[in-house]
Amino acid sequence: MSQSLKRYGAWALVTGASSGIGRAMAQRLCADGLNCIIVSNEKEALTATAEEFSRRYATEVIPCTCDLSSLNHLEEIRRCVGTREIDILVNCASFGTLGRFLDTPLSVYREGVGVSVHSYLTLTHHFLQGMVERDRGAVIFVCSVNAFAPVAFSAVYTAEKAFELFLGEAIWQELQYADSKVDLLVMCASATKTNFQARARTRVAQWAWTPEKVVDAGLRKLGRTPVAAISWRGNVYRYAGKLLLERLRLRFASWAITSNLAWDRKALLRTK
Ligand SMILES: NC(=O)c1ccc[n+]([C@@H]2O[C@H](COP(=O)([O-])OP(=O)(O)OC[C@H]3O[C@@H](n4cnc5c(N)ncnc54)[C@H](OP(=O)(O)O)[C@@H]3O)[C@@H](O)[C@H]2O)c1
Repeated sequence: MSQSLKRYGAWALVTGASSGIGRAMAQRLCADGLNCIIVSNEKEALTATAEEFSRRYATEVIPCTCDLSSLNHLEEIRRCVGTREIDILVNCASFGTLGRFLDTPLSVYREGVGVSVHSYLTLTHHFLQGMVERDRGAVIFVCSVNAFAPVAFSAVYTAEKAFELFLGEAIWQELQYADSKVDLLVMCASATKTNFQARARTRVAQWAWTPEKVVDAGLRKLGRTPVAAISWRGNVYRYAGKLLLERLRLRFASWAITSNLAWDRKALLRTK
């Protein structure tokens, strides 16, 4: 078990908290005694989650229904936050698409970039300001091992995750230069049993971890390192990719990620 997150303050904001890793993250924050503002686009699941966690952990949990791909999501979230100071920000909402680049409509990619790039950038820019002024807090990016190398048939999702990785790492270094006490972690998960695969229309690898296990492993790294690849598979993937020449790296990455999905991969390679 990692250290209590109460050390960062009283309020956290978690995006993508209606299911999967975001939900497990919000649960862990509440279990540690923090109050939470939980964000997703799914009113019913979010309200049920808020009621369950506030009852179970005797903390305040505010559901904030918001489409993070919309341009005005910051105003909506600011309305939910009111005058509260956010001490922990967890950027977690995201969805992936699997298939040939040209087979997915541009509108779906734009929505994905809105959620995983625009909202991560906007919320971090907004809430990090207060944390830096108070010299206390934590920003967590729930990222993926897909960020370590481009992956065929997952082009836009891997590009979104690479953005997240680079953004997080660069800000971490700025915080170091400033001797800031604000912690930042890019936690790069491997396959996890969530709704992610169903939305991406694929299946989950048999060895996939539970979201709770991912959250626990990730939080153990908070304050210790800028980037954590969760699980040994994630670390092999991360470092093997660095050792390979570019062409080989592209092939390796596309094979390693889609080899869990052999049933999809064969079909994808067959399509011309
Ligand atoms: N599952 C994996 O294998 C895996 C592996 C590596 C990394 N990750 C990362 O883990 C993070 C969480 O994914 P997950 O696996 O927990 O998937 P998940 O169970 O599908 O959860 C995704 C969350 O994002 C929210 N979301 C999606 N689009 C939204 C929008 N437009 N506005 C507001 N909220 C939106 C969803 O809420 P709604 O229900 O309202 O849409 C949901 O709460 C992602 O950043 C993903 O890249 C997952």
